[in-house]
Amino acid sequence: DMGGHDTYMHKEIHEQADAVDRALRGRIDDRFSTVHLGGLNLDARDARAVRRVKILGCGTSYHAGQIGAQMIEELARIPADAEPASEFRYRNPVVDPDTLYIAVSQSGETYDVLAAVQELKRKGARVLGLVNVVGSAIARETDGGIYVHAGPEVCVVSTKCFTNMVVSFGLLALHLGRTRDLSVADGKRIIAGLRKLPEQIAEILANEGEIEKLAGEYADAKSMMFIGRVRGYPVAREASLKLKEVSYIHAEAYPASELKHGPLALIEPAMPTVAIVPNDDLLEKNRAALEEIKARSGRILAVAHQVQEKADHTIVVPKNEDELDPILMGIPLQLLAYYTAKAMGRDIDKPRNLAKSVTVE
Ligand code: F6R
Repeated sequence: DMGGHDTYMHKEIHEQADAVDRALRGRIDDRFSTVHLGGLNLDARDARAVRRVKILGCGTSYHAGQIGAQMIEELARIPADAEPASEFRYRNPVVDPDTLYIAVSQSGETYDVLAAVQELKRKGARVLGLVNVVGSAIARETDGGIYVHAGPEVCVVSTKCFTNMVVSFGLLALHLGRTRDLSVADGKRIIAGLRKLPEQIAEILANEGEIEKLAGEYADAKSMMFIGRVRGYPVAREASLKLKEVSYIHAEAYPASELKHGPLALIEPAMPTVAIVPNDDLLEKNRAALEEIKARSGRILAVAHQVQEKADHTIVVPKNEDELDPILMGIPLQLLAYYTAKAMGRDIDKPRNLAKSVTVE
């Protein structure tokens, strides 16, 4: 039942405020400025013993893991990174007992992720799951974990589940941080930020008409460039994937800092750029990248916390805490992908060549 929406993708994009609310419910502990994650199976001593975090997933879930790794580094100061599960499996990785491994998956059935979990367990590693489907294979094979509670996701491309994965990583980063050196004040600050998310998501979605118009402006593009820096980079990668999947427009994602090392050669009016420009300590650096693109006659659509003068259009999103901004900045770009695909008459819920869960190698 699509409840009045024309596609599941549209419905699921609009379910995000409620979905995030569900991910937070019952987990926040104001007294100790932390969160409780029931199924984690990691006591305070285990949490303090973690020396490194390695996050494994595929596609959109891998991108959620990249944001998650940054959150864990920032809030818990544990070295963390994400890698496609498929790559990890095939490179005979060093499995380290002081590393906490986290498998991320909507379906909980993706073969490459499951096989990585099984391999890690054979080698004696501790593996947690960050999964949407309760009781799925990855949920069962892991030592504990976090259910992301996005609810059923029917559209082949992932939207609300991505958002809830990133929120769940925020919870985990806060939890790990508070068992280590993250201050009570920072804990309170992040909790307040998390609580604001549902309302801010609703605010972004209320702006849908403007994004529909912008999709019309950019639907003639042969190819699109997505750029961001640090927190904005995985957001750019996910937005680029979403556009490719549903519209079949070619898109690339680059760190804004890498433009001048090659991709700047592609910039011309037929290759518009979507730039993630948060109001954080990299704002001026991001603005310099916009200038470089403008100087080569590139069209720019910015997703930012305030109107960007160098951009042809800016989608203004509400500001949260710096660490949580990536959760919000991707949401208008889900709508951009949706409306671009719609204008092109694509089969949005079932893009060609794709399946909802990839249970083969
Ligand atoms: C993108 C998409 C895929 C999945 C990937 C992993 O919109 O849906 O990239 O994210 O196949 O699937 P799960 O999360 O089920 O392991």
